[in-house]
Amino acid sequence: MKILILNGPNLNMLGSREPEIYGTSTLSDIVNELTALAAGCNAQVDHFQSNEEGALVTRIQQSRGVHDGIIFNPGAYTHTSIALLDALRACDCPCIEVHLSNIHSREPFRRRSLTAQACLGQICGLGPMGYRLALTALLEMHGSKGTSR
Ligand code: DQA
Repeated sequence: MKILILNGPNLNMLGSREPEIYGTSTLSDIVNELTALAAGCNAQVDHFQSNEEGALVTRIQQSRGVHDGIIFNPGAYTHTSIALLDALRACDCPCIEVHLSNIHSREPFRRRSLTAQACLGQICGLGPMGYRLALTALLEMHGSKGTSR
């Protein structure tokens, strides 16, 4: 089983970016943790981060037939990107949207997620734990389906 971890704009700055909101873990810390967690379950993770919307769209398109699930933090594109919503809709694997912060307790413009409309679910407000929970959910759901790429 193969999972794609996808992170959008400014998430490469984790660790130093507004730590009072996003915490002190870096993106590498999060990815390393998920890599180890997946390996313990005979799964593999690929990671891609981009500050560019089109690059994220392309990566979602390329996941077709390759990945069994996507863990996606689209950053600010969550709230604006019809292109990412469409890419997720055209994709054949389940996606779980993750946000480190609780987007529902912040500015009103963060409360709406366009991308979540194409996702199985959304986890927010739990920091890096949200990524771990998303991985656990995908592994469990995939296990109950019994197929593998
Ligand atoms: C975020 C929340 C978004 O509103 C924000 O633009 C981000 C990070 C989060 O993980 O909490 O870049 O996706």
